[in-house]
Amino acid sequence: MNDLIAENNAAIELESPAVAAALSALGRRSALPDDVLTQAAEASRTTYNGTIGVITDGNGNALPLPSIAEVLSTLPDQDLNRALLYSKVLGLPEVRQAWQRWQRRNVPESKVSSLPVVTDGLSHGLSLCADLFGGEGRVVVVPAPYWGNYNQVFGTRTGTRMVSAPSIRAGRFRCEVIEDALADVDLADQEPVVAILHFPSNPGGYSLTANERMQLRTSLLRIADQRPLVVVCDDAYAGLVYEEAIPRASIFWDLAGIHSNLIPIKVDGVTKEFSFFGGRVGFLTFPFATESALFAALERKLGGLIRSTVGSPVAATQMIVLQALRRSGIAGEVESVRKTLEGRYRVLKEALEGVDASLLRPHPFNSGCFALVELPEELGLESGAVRRHLLENHDTGLVSLKPRYLRIAHCSVDREKLPELVSRLEKGVRELLDAK
Ligand SMILES: Cc1ncc(COP(=O)(O)O)c(C=O)c1O
Repeated sequence: MNDLIAENNAAIELESPAVAAALSALGRRSALPDDVLTQAAEASRTTYNGTIGVITDGNGNALPLPSIAEVLSTLPDQDLNRALLYSKVLGLPEVRQAWQRWQRRNVPESKVSSLPVVTDGLSHGLSLCADLFGGEGRVVVVPAPYWGNYNQVFGTRTGTRMVSAPSIRAGRFRCEVIEDALADVDLADQEPVVAILHFPSNPGGYSLTANERMQLRTSLLRIADQRPLVVVCDDAYAGLVYEEAIPRASIFWDLAGIHSNLIPIKVDGVTKEFSFFGGRVGFLTFPFATESALFAALERKLGGLIRSTVGSPVAATQMIVLQALRRSGIAGEVESVRKTLEGRYRVLKEALEGVDASLLRPHPFNSGCFALVELPEELGLESGAVRRHLLENHDTGLVSLKPRYLRIAHCSVDREKLPELVSRLEKGVRELLDAK
């Protein structure tokens, strides 16, 4: 096993010193061993295959309980088998290929990307990034405000140091936000860092304009000139963009292959993109060729991490997703959900444009599932107090985020109810102010 790990690390070092330098201690020592799985794969075509401990009909097919098989009975026979048996550790090959076609549907051929690795939802994909590239002594920069679970995934689980800076100032996105945040951090020469980008953002509901993308890209290149920079592109809300002028494609494609020290990783999946929250099918994609020794070595590392945590990704929901990906109408179905959300977004935008700016300051938003409003500092109100007041007196639920933000999840509210929600929010803030 030690030889295998050393060989794997040497392959990475040879092809990408930046990736090798950026690996965490866990990332360096992880590799899927040549154990039962390899031996079973080698024996898969034998007549007398007594390798893997999976219960079958004796001829390689599943032996399901009728109660379970019935639920999945609309699947073609071969797919039913694949849904009931173990998935490969890195995901079912046909699912990986079909998702790659989906990801690349509007991407120029010249952009290189690996076959995606299947994860148990996006949180799992993010935690694999944290395992590979985070850890004690490593810095991860996240523009604020951000999804709080990054703290658990990177900070609590792996001890990565969370560093942040405000992403919006005076109503505009700050394209140098990662560089600015790093300016206050004491980093050794060439020390690798990790950054997380999330567009459309949570909780902001913001996606960059084409010009902002260019500026952010330039800023990240300046960092990459000095050190390896792993950029985790959290594309949870991919495609949910509501303004014509805002590019829909992931920023991953802008960053892939532009600098040897810049290592973007695409984290995406069906949770929001296919509105399949309970499915737990996510993907991790690297800017490297599938056939490269570098990607093969990374696959081995990911295989080791996946096998040692969730064993293998869920096969049944991968097969459900595959049925959807095989349909020619899938893009239209996704677009139809986007249109429904766009309708809610427009109503909310209009309602927020009418609020009293001395009470509530909406942040710019143009995409995703959320809008963020800020309580002006001079009011001296805490967002937690506003949240409780709305809950107790106005039959309204919003999320409070420190220091003074309230997040409106317009994706889960009927569009007819959104103007009333905003009016209750405004009223609630005014009441708390009057009571001071
Ligand atoms: C920005 C962001 N990333 C990742 C996730 C996690 O996705 P999943 O539910 O697939 O783990 C979420 C879920 O809310 C999210 O908002």
